[in-house]
Amino acid sequence: MAGSAGPEPPALKVASVTHRRAAGRPDAGGPGPLAECLFSGYKSVMTAVAGRGDAPSTESSGSSGEAPAADSGPRRIVVAGDWHGNEDWALSVIRRVPALLAGESQRLILHLGDFGIWPDRAGQEYLDRVSGALAGAGAELWFVDGNHEDFGRLGQLDQKPGPDGRVTVVPRVMHLPRGYRWNWHGLTWLACGGAVSLDRAVRTEGLDWWPQEEITTEQEVAISGGGHADVMVCHDCPSGVAHTFARPPPEWAPEDLARNDAHRRRLQRIVDAVMPVYLIHGHLHRAYQRTCDFGYGPVKVTGLDADNRLRNFATLDVTSMRWDVRAGWFSRFRRSAVVG
Ligand SMILES: [Fe+2]
Repeated sequence: MAGSAGPEPPALKVASVTHRRAAGRPDAGGPGPLAECLFSGYKSVMTAVAGRGDAPSTESSGSSGEAPAADSGPRRIVVAGDWHGNEDWALSVIRRVPALLAGESQRLILHLGDFGIWPDRAGQEYLDRVSGALAGAGAELWFVDGNHEDFGRLGQLDQKPGPDGRVTVVPRVMHLPRGYRWNWHGLTWLACGGAVSLDRAVRTEGLDWWPQEEITTEQEVAISGGGHADVMVCHDCPSGVAHTFARPPPEWAPEDLARNDAHRRRLQRIVDAVMPVYLIHGHLHRAYQRTCDFGYGPVKVTGLDADNRLRNFATLDVTSMRWDVRAGWFSRFRRSAVVG
């Protein structure tokens, strides 16, 4: 069953989980490095202006289809949103994987970014403990980069991808570089991480902010030139999925708000070139699902919530692209009044 289907086990006592402050970050002054992530504590109202209307529900209480050949990839995976280096939360999710993916020979968590690559000792300890928990669960975790990652370290690691194109950060934890593609059961998947930190003004470059958070023009051209993919896995939400937000907090500089808008438009241009049928993203810290029309046909867009939230993760059947969640698990963010 999915993340919130049925009674929650003791391992997911949300209120008891303390949001971990990031490693390598001074305790005094400034915002929490990851906890104060984009959109955290910032009420959003999403509007369905891009949609043709709600799609038929893809929610399912079970999987369908025949078991695939062993070499065609997993049949079911766990997809998770922003963890922000929250070790308690990360381990609690990972420990559930054997039950969530019972019967799967390849247990995989696909992570939507802000996983928690962070500098210094505490950042490494987080990775080591996640790696150990994955070993205990017999699982791997693949992640696209978010905006809160140590891109200095990721950039170095990305110089040495494995033969499959994925980048091993620590055992069982793999980064999917922007533009990385793979195939499961006849569907082509495309990784495209990156987003803008709206609170950049209160961060320090190289300490808790890195300019590589943004998709570059060169990356946009390369990814778009790669042609069609059926499924895009992103951190940011493309601009065609319209949403409006309440008044931004004062520490968000106008130039960063503009930078954010430009980044979402850039991602939309990539989407328009790649023309995925499914798009899954994090960053907004909202679990929702909507069908949008970007001009080439319906696109099922799914977002997931952040750490410490029960709608942070769910099981997805990648043969049918059906989420194993109960009805109503995803919000549709129906057309709402614009705020702010
Ligand atoms: Fe985040």
